[in-house]
Parts: sequence; C-alpha cells; structure tokens
Amino acid sequence: MNLVIADDYDGMSLAAADWISSFVRLKPDATIALTTGNTPIGCYRELSRKVSHGEISFRNASFICTEEYLGVSPSDKVSLYGWLKRSFMSPCSVHDQQVCRMEGESAEPQQACEQFSRHIHRLGGLDLVIEGIGRNGHIGFNEPGSFVSSRARIVELAAITQQSNFHYWNEEVPRYGLTIGMAELLESRHILLLASGEDKAIALQLALEGISTEAVPASLLQNHSNLTVIVDQAAASRLRARERDER
Ligand code: GLP
Repeated sequence: MNLVIADDYDGMSLAAADWISSFVRLKPDATIALTTGNTPIGCYRELSRKVSHGEISFRNASFICTEEYLGVSPSDKVSLYGWLKRSFMSPCSVHDQQVCRMEGESAEPQQACEQFSRHIHRLGGLDLVIEGIGRNGHIGFNEPGSFVSSRARIVELAAITQQSNFHYWNEEVPRYGLTIGMAELLESRHILLLASGEDKAIALQLALEGISTEAVPASLLQNHSNLTVIVDQAAASRLRARERDER
C-alpha cells in the first residue's frame, strides 16, 4: 500500500488530482470508477482546473458511477449520478455517453445491476477505482457484511449511511441503493482511496490497520496489490503508520 498523508483537505485534494492526472496521462483510455460524496469534491474541482488549462483530458476515458439510490432517476434531486454530473462530468467535459451509471429508476433493478456488471466486463474490467469511505467502513454502498465475492446488486443502506447522506440535501434518502460489488472493486487494476476529516479516523484505522474482514468492507482493500491511499492529517490521526512517520 502506498499511503500519502496531506496536511488538510485541500492538500489531499491536490495530491489526489495530481495522482489521477499522472494515471490518465499514462493511460488516456482508462476505465475509471468514480465515487460520489463530499470527499472527492475538491479533487474533482482541481481536475476540472487541469482540464480547462489543457493539462489533461478525459476525452478517451470511460467512467463508471459506482452507486445510486433505488427508485431514483438522474433528474431526481437526490440522484448520485446527478451529483457526479455536477461535480465531475460537466466541469471536466465528460459526456453522458462516456459514463455507465446504475439505473436506480429501472423497473427491473436487479437486471439493471447485472447489466451494469456485464458492461464493466465488456470494457475489460476497471483500470482504476476512486473511492471514499463511510464512517462504518463502507465502500460505494457495500455496507458491513458485504461479501468479498459480491457483485453489483441492490442493498439496504445502514442507518448511519442514511443519516450521513441526509445532510447532502437536507432530505431523506431512500432506504435501498444499487452498488458496484466488492468483487468488481477488488478486480480493478488500481484503487485510490480518499478520506478526510476526524469523523473518518476510526473507519480508516480499521480499514488499513485492522484485520481484513467483511465486517469492515474497506479493510478488504488491504489485500489489493495496487492500493494508494491519500488522506489528510485528521483522517489519519489514529493510524499507527502515521506515528511511525512522525518519529
Ligand atoms: C456515501 C457514498 C460513498 C462515499 C461515502 C463517504 O454513502 N455512497 O460513495 O464514499 O458515503 O461520503 P463522504 O465523502 O460524503 O463522507
């Protein structure tokens, strides 16, 4: 694992954007799975700055939006695809045709999940997954107890996830979601995990330094051979690795 501890949120965002830019320069046609949530917003902002200055382009890349709420269409206020569109796609000149989303509004959501998995397979798997972490150690919407072999599917959101996500819009979010599976995340050739803030410190410590267990889905990433973790000091405050670095 490659661990980078930045001073603060802005430092984390810049380091992550630089890392992603280097990745895309080496592989302009990469297939990249993107998370939503507050954590990557600063990174996406910096990427859009790089795009507008001609430093990078996502023109030839393909994207996957890793989660959506059940029963929610892209135009819905609480749509996570809508979130990705506003925070990443539009500012970075990425078009809808370049992005595979989870069809939360589908009348056959389980089939939509299977189609989503097949789409990833057809693209030749993922080159890079960019994920944040939930306070309970979830990844995407893979809540505690998600099997390491799980694929895209419908899940019931943990109460803490529903509460955290309430604050995005000051509006209740659906109790169920569609998520990329742990297997699909772990099969990605590279994983970039981002975390910011003290409220992520326990989850991050369990994820990186606890035992690898399905009870903390993010801890399953420990077994990945190309895992890069970029966090800020507050999120890293409980890491033993940090104490070693400071000695
Ligand atoms: C949300 C999202 C995840 C996100 C995580 C952390 O529920 N489904 O993709 O990584 O929780 O969110 P935030 O970055 O807002 O703290």
